[in-house]
Parts: sequence; structure tokens; C-alpha cells
Amino acid sequence: MKKILTVIGARPQFIKCAPVSQVLRKKFKEILVHTGQHYDQNMSDVFFEQLSIPTPNYNLGIGSSTHAVQTAQMMMKIEEISLSEKPDAILVYGDTNSTLAGALVAAKLLIPLVHIEAGLRSFNKKMPEEVNRVCTDHLSKLLFCPTDVAVTNLLNENISQGVHLVGDVMKDAIFQVLENLDVSTVLQKFDIVENKKYYFFTLHRQENTDDLDRLSRILNFVSFSKYPVIFPIHPRTRKVIEQNNIRIPQNIILHPPVNYFESIALQKKSECVITDSGGMQKEAYILQKPCITLRPETEWVETVQDGVNILVDDNAEKFIEAIQKYQNNKIVGTFVRYGDGKASVKIVETLEKSI
Ligand code: UD1
Repeated sequence: MKKILTVIGARPQFIKCAPVSQVLRKKFKEILVHTGQHYDQNMSDVFFEQLSIPTPNYNLGIGSSTHAVQTAQMMMKIEEISLSEKPDAILVYGDTNSTLAGALVAAKLLIPLVHIEAGLRSFNKKMPEEVNRVCTDHLSKLLFCPTDVAVTNLLNENISQGVHLVGDVMKDAIFQVLENLDVSTVLQKFDIVENKKYYFFTLHRQENTDDLDRLSRILNFVSFSKYPVIFPIHPRTRKVIEQNNIRIPQNIILHPPVNYFESIALQKKSECVITDSGGMQKEAYILQKPCITLRPETEWVETVQDGVNILVDDNAEKFIEAIQKYQNNKIVGTFVRYGDGKASVKIVETLEKSI
């Protein structure tokens, strides 16, 4: 059996890896490496338990640091493991520092690199994620794209070999979860009685948390919303808020990070999702919920084109306009994108032919 070494490390990668690993392990020997980029119980372990992700063969325990230190430490250990395991390919997901570390090691050791969620671009190189994805795509042998926009982005950078449009593995994950999701138990836990209206809000991007004026502005205008705002707070954001004594407006209800089932249930029943996360813009779309995005641009441009995602950046007026638009108009988006929930199967079929 051919061997694939998969590198994961951050919350969204655990979710993406769950459906792929299931299928992959029927045809390949998978060596799972967890870099430790996310290490809190509620940022990591809970996803492994809930999504039945196999226990990693290696846990690198790298944790937080500056970008260079974090990435370099990951590379040193991934190189060592790759030299002893001799995989036939290295598989990475998305755009985190763990993705980049895996990609660079594969390139240097001449091991074929496979990138799932290839071709996404925000065209904003100030985002660490944009740098990570551009580098990773240019080093990959096989590139699995979730959308036709992603395929076009790659073509525009002269990448056409090894590109496959398969749909989005997050859709696979959501479809699986929806089969056994007990929404009402989740709502009870969050004290949401039947038909109570609320917004679901997340914020963690470096561009939003590290500029204090911007962070306070966003928290303030988000709290103008008509209904309560449920805010599971990322550790990065919590740290900045606590260290700087930033006041949380009353309408915003803080929670520790939620698990995947809770996140899906809370999004599904919300009036609207308010976020700066890449993954949640897409999850909201798959769950047929409108989204307001607290960024100037998005990689998921098709959600905006379909009229169900509005980019408000840090602008209070645009935010209020967006909330009103969603309140007054029925959402007419088609919600049909991101594949058929079988991206994982298509990916593994292609891997069988190509690795
Ligand atoms: C990372 C990814 C981002 C992804 C996000 C999902 C990069 C560059 N960014 O951002 O693309 O959307 O994960 O959540 O890779 N921390 C904890 N406990 C944890 C994890 C992090 O306290 O379990 C704290 C760290 O101390 C650090 C901060 O959160 O100060 C940021 O963590 P980091 O891994 O650098 O990036 P994320 O913001 O999570």
C-alpha cells in the first residue's frame, strides 16, 4: 500500500481531514502528523473525538510563536519524520502555517505535494494565509480545487498541470454531521429557547485582532444588532481583549470556542452569521444562511456574487445596511455551489491514479 503523510495543525484542518481520512485509509496507508499549532482542548482534541479523526501518529507539540519560529520548528520535525517514513506523497490542507511547513518540506525532499483547497486567493498579501496558499500551490503536484474560481486563479498564475475541480471537502463534513445533529440539545446548552432570534459571530483574524481601534469598532457596531449576538471567542481574540481591557458591549454574549457540532447547529439556527473566518463564510452558505464578513475581501467571491455574503470590512454603516437588507429581503441565493458532498471520494480516486 502506498503511504501518504498528512500534515494538519489548526482547527479548520481537523474538520477538512475528517471526511478525507475516512476514504483515504481504504486505499492508502496514512501517517497523520499534528503540528500542535492549535493545542487547547476546545481548539483541537474535541474535534478529533467528535469527528472520529484517527489519533495522529506524531504530535509535534509546536504551539504558538512568531510565524517564522512556528513554521521553522514545524519544518524541522516534519523533515525528520518524512526522512524516516519515506512517504509517497505529503498531503496538506488550506492555508495555515502548518500547511506551509508541510509544503516546504515536501518540496525540499522532492516528495510529491498534494494540496486540498487549492487555488483560493484574497489577493491581499498582508494576510499570512495568502502567502501560505500562494507558496503551497506553486509547490504542489496535485491541486484539488473547491470552485471553478479557484481553478481560474491557478490558471492565471500559469498552474494548469495536476489541477482537479472536486468540490469542497467541508461540504462532505457538513453533510455527514447533519445526518446526526441534535440541534435542540445544542440550542438548550446555549440557552436559546425555541424560535429565539440571534446572530452567530466569530472574530480571530490577525488583521482584526491586532489593530485595537479596528477591533473595538467592530465589537461596537456588531452589538448594534437587533438580536443577541453569540460570540464563541478564539484564544487570540480573548488575549487581546483581556490584555487591553477592551469592553465587550452588553448585547454580545461570550462563550469559549464551540465544538464542530455546536458551530454547525448555531449557524443553522441563527438569523445570520457574522465572521472574519474563511471557513465559516462557506459553512454559512452550505447551511443556506446569509453571512456578513468583517474583511475587505474574500476568497469565496461566489458567495458574494450569489447575494448571500456581504463584505463590510470595519465599516459600521455598511454593517447596519447589511443587517437591514437581510431582515427586509428574503434571501434569493441559490446555495448550490461547492460540489455534491463527495469531494473526498473524487480526491482519493485521483490520488490512486496519480501517486
Ligand atoms: C490559524 C490560521 C488561520 C485559521 C485559524 C483557525 C495561520 C497563519 N493562521 O490562525 O488561517 O483560520 O488558525 O482558527 O496559520 N492559541 C491558543 N490556543 C490554541 C491555539 C491558539 O491560545 O489552541 C493562541 C496562540 O497563543 C496565539 C493565537 O491563538 O497567540 C493565534 O494562534 P495561531 O495558531 O498563530 O493562529 P490562528 O489565529 O489560530
